Amino acid sequence: MRAEPQIRSFSLRPAPGQARLVPEPYPATPVWGFNGQVPGPELRVRQGDRLRIVVTNGLDEETTVHWHGLRLPNAMDGVPHLTQKPIAPGETFTYEFDAIDAGTFWYHPHQRSFEQVGRGLAGPLIIDETNPPRVDRDVTWLLDDWRLTQDAAIADDFGASMDMSHAGRLGNTVTINGRVPDVFVVRQGERIRLRLINAANARIFALDFGDLSARIIALDGQPITPHAAPDGVVVLGPAMRADIMLDCPADPGTTLQIVDRAYRDNEFNLLDVVFDDTPLRAAPPEWEIALPANPLVEPDLNAARRHEILFTGGMMGAMVERQMGLSQSGSMMGGMMGGVVGGGMWFVNGVAAEGHMLDPFLTLERDASHVLHMTNATAFDHPIHLHGHSFRVISRDGVRTEFREWQDTVLIAPREQVEIALVADNPGDWMFHCHILEHQAAGMMGVIRVA
Ligand code: C2O
Ligand code: CU
Repeated sequence: MRAEPQIRSFSLRPAPGQARLVPEPYPATPVWGFNGQVPGPELRVRQGDRLRIVVTNGLDEETTVHWHGLRLPNAMDGVPHLTQKPIAPGETFTYEFDAIDAGTFWYHPHQRSFEQVGRGLAGPLIIDETNPPRVDRDVTWLLDDWRLTQDAAIADDFGASMDMSHAGRLGNTVTINGRVPDVFVVRQGERIRLRLINAANARIFALDFGDLSARIIALDGQPITPHAAPDGVVVLGPAMRADIMLDCPADPGTTLQIVDRAYRDNEFNLLDVVFDDTPLRAAPPEWEIALPANPLVEPDLNAARRHEILFTGGMMGAMVERQMGLSQSGSMMGGMMGGVVGGGMWFVNGVAAEGHMLDPFLTLERDASHVLHMTNATAFDHPIHLHGHSFRVISRDGVRTEFREWQDTVLIAPREQVEIALVADNPGDWMFHCHILEHQAAGMMGVIRVA
């Protein structure tokens, strides 16, 4: 007989507050945070537990909380107007769901998220395996990107059309766990499970671990065959996560660097990794690093139904569409030329979603296998996220992926085509959108129904 799940209770209160993002002599930054913190508190439970989270809205606008990457009942997904009424100022909503997958997840509002997340509302949600692999330290880094003024205030230009139509709201200040990082002290021989969460509105990270040994053991919370990060670089689009087994081989006193290489003309040193004077052990431990599998259902590619999804729009979109031979698509017809009401600049199968987009553009038969073939006919990268499910990334530009990774958010490069596969086993209406939050706000979203 199965025991009743252990209930783990939390409360979250999004509200305006202050955070010291940049060190003295800069002043503290007015932010919006959960429980007065940026990022919000790390919610941590064990796989199989039931979470009960009471959210009280301390903002003076409506909000919700979405549990990014979790496979949970539709009514708990935190999407305003689609899965729940938004939480009015001063009101409370209780979320309750079981932690069926172990892994690294996060939470954030889904109401006007380009501003609410951009002002600091985001936090880690960690679900521990029953038997996690042995490590010396388990460390979470929530990466964020801020557009700050001279006096460390958040620039008040949310929704600028330049950001909407280009690469999103890129900032000028990167933080780890709400602070501009300085040094990360490690010991020779130490093994660290590093959980990376990209909570930025728009910034892509490509972290080069250099002479540290970085092996990827999970992406978007889901275990993957452990493998060295390609060229030592871990790429994370907005909303994506990676669990890294970090081995620290250098001598005491050494300083190494972790460098961000995502933007060619703007590489920067994220932080210094300083080796403490006392070594822990001469060589990295030989402990097992693979994670136990989560209970995901394997899609049957032979029986899968295929669906085409085309992304168009944005600056220079018409040019890319012409080059790809897609001159009939949405942005040419209805968008750039037709003049769009409501600021729609990005299109999913020809439609730029406006306001509360409740009608599904695609229905997936429940419990069947499906392949979504996605084409990015734009000049920009898009991290595409499906709620309520994890999917396997099976091909890129027609080439089978090596690891067939499970993801909930897949980064698609300009002109790239990506196939993902899943069993649609979670009924309901689910958001499907770009996680560059300015793109989402400018139309790049839709609803996929599983029924
Ligand atoms: Cu991170 Cu629609 O969500
Ligand atoms: Cu996008």
